[in-house]
Amino acid sequence: MPKGKSCEPTDSIDSSERVMESQHEEEQHIAASKLLDAQIHLWNHVLSFINSMSLKSAIDLNIPDIIHKHAKPMPLPSLISSLQIHPSQSPNIHRLMRILTHSGFFSQSKEGYVLTHASTLLLKDNPFSVSPFLLAMLDPVLIKPWFHVASWFKNGEDPTTTTPFGTAHGGKTLWEYARDEAELNGVFNEAMASDARVVASVVMGKCKRVFEGLECLVDVGGGTGTVAKAIAKAFPQMECTVFDLPHVVEGQEDSGNLKFVGGDMFQDAPLPPADAILLKSILHDWNDEECVKILKKCKESLASKGKDGKLILIEIIMKENYEKGDMDDESIMETQLYLDMLMMVMLTGKERNEKDGYVDWKREKRERMGQIDILCWFQSLQNNSRSGFKISH
Ligand SMILES: C[S@@+](CC[C@H](N)C(=O)[O-])C[C@H]1O[C@@H](n2cnc3c(N)ncnc32)[C@H](O)[C@@H]1O
Repeated sequence: MPKGKSCEPTDSIDSSERVMESQHEEEQHIAASKLLDAQIHLWNHVLSFINSMSLKSAIDLNIPDIIHKHAKPMPLPSLISSLQIHPSQSPNIHRLMRILTHSGFFSQSKEGYVLTHASTLLLKDNPFSVSPFLLAMLDPVLIKPWFHVASWFKNGEDPTTTTPFGTAHGGKTLWEYARDEAELNGVFNEAMASDARVVASVVMGKCKRVFEGLECLVDVGGGTGTVAKAIAKAFPQMECTVFDLPHVVEGQEDSGNLKFVGGDMFQDAPLPPADAILLKSILHDWNDEECVKILKKCKESLASKGKDGKLILIEIIMKENYEKGDMDDESIMETQLYLDMLMMVMLTGKERNEKDGYVDWKREKRERMGQIDILCWFQSLQNNSRSGFKISH
């Protein structure tokens, strides 16, 4: 139709077309932004292992200790010349430093790199160093099971006894693997000890009174004895025993009021008698039925002393909800979710919340310690006919 012959004024057609066009453009613009947001969210998650692996590379290259020894901001050329790297790689070091500065492990001024509060926890001589934990979690033996999670979900074997770890490692449990491979045993025990040093310090600082008046304590699954050593030192009158698998306590020396006993808490032999049992990071390794078996053994040990027993649990209690936007809260929640996945992939356990059963015990004191809680229960186990650990499914 020739221009100007329409029953509607041309201007009005043009303007309504323009409105529709601009609406369409706006919708396309929003769709494109949403697409890009979704893509960046995904890429960020797909590639987030690079954060962990970059950190591991920095530790393998000893970067935090080198910057620390420098004792003042360290310029990039000095850092490069202090590293044991091939000269051809020198131009790449700033790229590793750039991502680690971005993730808050170093900060950079005109004068050079300095450590942040977080990276002081990577120093070898920091008693609270997290490096052993990092090196264990990123060890290829513990990384391999993550490639088997989907097949574990798909296979028909009993999911309460099989694990992706077992699928990846010829059916062995983590404990059997550590028994057979001295290197992994060392790496894993040192990782546990590094966590135990932090926890022992916090427990002794915040909850020491929980241990007052005890005569005889057994730390079941106590690893190489870091927590028990701290308790034995703080309470020289108390007899402390670390009970763990033979390959874990092998080579550990008894001293003063501390001794080591090798054994298996699931075997028929009783646990050493005690008036208090400590289980730190033990119940989360096991499924509900296994937890009940462990707690029955603990109950027998406590009953054999002829007194009311005390069971002291140090465990994570999963947050059920968190304040969105509260970064501390979100990061605790995220770390707890990671740990729960870790228990599922490496072991038969899980992180539990109060509804999962911990609350069923008479609670005397609960002390929040970042992402973990210390739960101290005082229970007349001797006269208590229940298994003592009721899990609601
Ligand atoms: C997660 S680690 C915790 C170690 C220590 N309680 C800590 O928090 O540092 C679990 C411990 O349980 C021990 N364990 C596993 N199976 C065991 C068993 N059947 N009998 C005794 N200890 C066992 C492991 O050797 C390991 O030291």
